[in-house]
Amino acid sequence: MDLYEYQAKDLFAAHQVPVLPGEVATTPAEARAAAERIGGQVVVKAQVKTGGRGKAGGVKLAENPAEAEEKAKAILGMDIKGHTVHRVLVTAASDISEEYYFSFLLDRSNRTFLAMASAEGGVEIEQLAVERPEALAKVAIDPIEGVDKAKATEILKQGKFPEAVLDEAAEVVVKLWDTFTAEDASLVEVNPLVRDPQDKVIALDGKVTLDENAGFRHEAHGELVDKQAEDPLEAKAKAKDLNYVKLEGQVGIIGNGAGLVMSTLDVVAYAGEKHSGVKPANFLDIGGGASAEVMAAGLDVILGDQDVRSVFVNVFGGITACDAVANGIVEALKILGDEATKPLVVRLDGNNVEEGRRILAEANHPLVTVVDTMDNAADKAAELAAAGA
Ligand SMILES: Nc1ncnc2c1ncn2[C@@H]1O[C@H](COP(=O)(O)OP(=O)(O)OP(=O)(O)O)[C@@H](O)[C@H]1O
Ligand SMILES: [Mg+2]
Repeated sequence: MDLYEYQAKDLFAAHQVPVLPGEVATTPAEARAAAERIGGQVVVKAQVKTGGRGKAGGVKLAENPAEAEEKAKAILGMDIKGHTVHRVLVTAASDISEEYYFSFLLDRSNRTFLAMASAEGGVEIEQLAVERPEALAKVAIDPIEGVDKAKATEILKQGKFPEAVLDEAAEVVVKLWDTFTAEDASLVEVNPLVRDPQDKVIALDGKVTLDENAGFRHEAHGELVDKQAEDPLEAKAKAKDLNYVKLEGQVGIIGNGAGLVMSTLDVVAYAGEKHSGVKPANFLDIGGGASAEVMAAGLDVILGDQDVRSVFVNVFGGITACDAVANGIVEALKILGDEATKPLVVRLDGNNVEEGRRILAEANHPLVTVVDTMDNAADKAAELAAAGA
């Protein structure tokens, strides 16, 4: 889960990383009131989960509260790389002597953590990384050893941080490491980390990605979810404990087991090439024990997707045998009643397959087509989706 800058900075503050005071505002009047409370010059910053806000005109200096209101009016509602600005952060303005870059991230390809640091931070960091990669230090971090002050200093030296701020910046880096590990983040990025005229080191921006798999350890993280921006179907699926990811296609997919569902997406995408290029509409793994309730909940989510024109139910019976799954499908269609309106292609195989197919044949539901093999079923589902266009 990616956080907004203001949320990232709240986490920073909780771990003693120096940040400037700020308040979130959703209207120009609120921005004015926030600027009054903060006092002096403020910066009004678009809160969107994408970089390059400054370059897009989403970060503006205001001399006084009236100006903060004006800038907030200009920034709220702005579109930045496809993200609409619904709120701004009004924060104290800093005098900046230098801008640095610092981040910790999970380096998946090298199976370790990585620190990146550069004395040349700021809004041109992407360009720097491409044009002069040597100016951006990359240091692998041993997860067991972690980052103490000595390690932090070593990283900063490689990033060519000036001597005068090394000590203080190293302390900030240790606190960023605390944030990264204690919050189970996969990214903590500060750009810019600034040096002010008094040589204080402050995080002026913050980007944090939290590992949702560790969510059970962090009750407080639940409150960071942006309900407004959540995909409504994904939210519905989450509420029902379903493993669902919305995709862009037209063929709804239900399967049991993540591996089977992944390969179902592949065969449907492949079959779709022959049928007007239809694609899988989602990933949905109903797991073991495909009860009628779970099947109904899954179908309910998928049929709620306006883009879906057919559904492919692909189940391999194991501990939960095919007859139980077949009963689950029949019951689910009863539960859904008139809400089930799109054709279903069902492929069953594995434990008790004969009985499963018999149950579906006997139910003889007008929306259901049973196909014996996965490839043929994918082809049928794609054909029906293309025909339903
Ligand atoms: N509180 C502040 N006081 C003074 N200047 C600021 C402040 N916050 C941001 N700036 C200036 O605005 C620039 C852009 O701000 P910031 O890095 O927060 O947004 P951004 O453009 O989205 O960054 P990125 O591209 O890294 O996501 C900073 O590099 C800094 O020069
Ligand atoms: Mg930035």
